[in-house]
Amino acid sequence: MELLHRPRRLRANEKIRSMVRENHVRVDDLIYPMFVIYGENTKNEIPSMPGVYQYSLDLFVEALKEVVDLGIPAILLFGIPETKDAVGTGAYHQHGIVQEAVRVAKKHYPDLYVITDVCLCEYTDHGHCGVIQDGKILNDPTLDLLAQTAVSHAQAGADMVAPSDMMDGRVAAIRQSLDKAGFTDVPVMSYAAKFASGFYGPFREAAGSAPQFGDRRTYQMDPPNGNEAMRETALDIEEGADLIIVKPALAYGDITYRTKERFGLPVVAYNVSGEYSMVKAASAQGWIDEKRIVMEALVSMKRAGADLIISYHALDVARWLQG
Ligand code: PBG
Repeated sequence: MELLHRPRRLRANEKIRSMVRENHVRVDDLIYPMFVIYGENTKNEIPSMPGVYQYSLDLFVEALKEVVDLGIPAILLFGIPETKDAVGTGAYHQHGIVQEAVRVAKKHYPDLYVITDVCLCEYTDHGHCGVIQDGKILNDPTLDLLAQTAVSHAQAGADMVAPSDMMDGRVAAIRQSLDKAGFTDVPVMSYAAKFASGFYGPFREAAGSAPQFGDRRTYQMDPPNGNEAMRETALDIEEGADLIIVKPALAYGDITYRTKERFGLPVVAYNVSGEYSMVKAASAQGWIDEKRIVMEALVSMKRAGADLIISYHALDVARWLQG
């Protein structure tokens, strides 16, 4: 055989493979999601998410030490309130759980980049991401509450806000309210392409945010739709979004790719709870090699065009990267 092209030449050993490697997961790419609750000395493991906890604020600060020591640049905060009501008051209360967590995180670790999830579903007794009338999730009356939530997070010291509710017009409402309150420099990382996904199941256990009736399909996107994701993203960018989240990550690599190609702005892949649980369950059975699978999944997000990755695996990944 006189083969001119032999691609195997560049795969001959680890030295040359690493020299021609096109994509890398770096610790600076990682955003670690964390759950905070009221109380003291409490650290509840989420049964479906081994290694992920709901932390009371004292133990949250302890846990942050590890995050910072590992060099992870940013966290994404979710709160579990003491009480819930129809309008999600806990979401925008000055001393809500997330607001207090932001204060304590910035006090102990001023350099840690603190991002907050902006949504009502953890705080409403019906578990939906907006206010309700006659069984319908209302769009416009929800916007003001989301904007108040974002401003209260910024007032507590949040570096960035991430609206995940999927109401129409919420990026504009949040941007305007932040600017009016003097937070012109706080970026909005929008969950622009957020699908109505079965992969969020374990999160709802972690955040206690399962809808009490119906589902989220009237506001989150229909999984078969790619063009609609481009339209949602275009609208959010027009409204002032600084970064775009694609969520979930694994089954939606095409959306990440298209978003990066088309819009060019920073794209963030959210490696969601169900993706984490599947890996944990299979590796606990000894059916897969956890480290190998996680690194392969995360680098696929980078290959698709993600600049940043939100992942519950972040601590493990940071440890593995340290060697
Ligand atoms: C809140 C929110 C959810 C997630 C992030 N923000 C749940 C949902 O929309 O049902 C899911 C995160 C995950 O599954 O890891 N709206």
